[in-house]
Amino acid sequence: MRVLERLDQLYAIGGGPGANRLGGTAEEDEAHELVTMWMREAGLEIEVDPARNLFGRLRGRRPELPEVWTGSHLDSVPAGGRFDGALGVVAGLEAIEQAGRQAGTLTVVAFRDEEGARGVGCFGSRALCSGWLDPKPAVFLEAHVEQGPRLGHAGAPLAVVTGIVATARGEVVFDGQPGHAGTTPMAGRRDALAAAAEFVLHLRDAASAVDGAVATVGRLEVEPGAANVIPARVVISVDVRAPDSTSLDAVLAEIPAETVRTEAVAMSAAPTDALRAEIERLGLPLLELPSGAGHDAGVLAAAGVPTAMLFVRSLRGGISHTPDEETSAEDVELCIEVLAGALAKLASVE
Ligand code: HGY
Ligand code: MN
Ligand code: MN
Repeated sequence: MRVLERLDQLYAIGGGPGANRLGGTAEEDEAHELVTMWMREAGLEIEVDPARNLFGRLRGRRPELPEVWTGSHLDSVPAGGRFDGALGVVAGLEAIEQAGRQAGTLTVVAFRDEEGARGVGCFGSRALCSGWLDPKPAVFLEAHVEQGPRLGHAGAPLAVVTGIVATARGEVVFDGQPGHAGTTPMAGRRDALAAAAEFVLHLRDAASAVDGAVATVGRLEVEPGAANVIPARVVISVDVRAPDSTSLDAVLAEIPAETVRTEAVAMSAAPTDALRAEIERLGLPLLELPSGAGHDAGVLAAAGVPTAMLFVRSLRGGISHTPDEETSAEDVELCIEVLAGALAKLASVE
């Protein structure tokens, strides 16, 4: 199956284990070059914008109509999964080829640095939407693996997404008093790492106390980082998510640092209905799920683009952001079928 073969080629970039195509790196560039080649083979017009987002267009019979977009991202987390982001781009390209030429232009886009390897996530889609999103597309559809267990538990291959949670990301710095590990009494120490450790557990408890909220410290840097020196400075990352702004605020109140936040955003009715109709046409169970993960779709929706997401079942308990991420060929086929049908319908509006 061509989509799976292409996902394997992207997965091999960076040499493993897992997908290693961090935003802003040569590996992300290599993925963009590969997809550019596949877009050219499909006869699409290629565009690269100032943020180096990649667009492939199947020009419509009526080029004056607003375009219909689909896509996702090609960058990954370190040792990431085979499907996160890449599925939305590769399946989007396949779906456009399957849909064929329509009245409106069909466009597949690969956004840069969605994972935020260089700081805040969704670099490419944020740049586009705060810069040159003109003319706006008629709709944006993003297919993405669920990255959770709910479709697996329900025994369903696909779901439409109702909305994307509110998120906040930032860093907290702890400054202590460095000193000799052997000659400095415990009393009176100002150990930056001990302070950071207490905060990490406090943040965990604060998020656990707010319904639907989650908080993660995924990165921790210690200076000077020697075994026999009391830590002088510790920098930790904080990633907080919650179903709505009020819940997010309740957790952020515990964080003594600035964070960059995105508000919770709902998906749009019309494009979601187009996906829903295709799922029903195939006689598949219809689930509607909120997304705990952030996506470029959230940025496009917040910018006023009518947006919808199609979730594809994640196997192995929904594990993601690891090499164990898995989705079946059958579910990928269904994703392409639904996406192609919805794209054709949304672009056929005469
Ligand atoms: O972190 C996220 O939610 C997404 O994978 N970028
Ligand atoms: Mn991800
Ligand atoms: Mn993703």
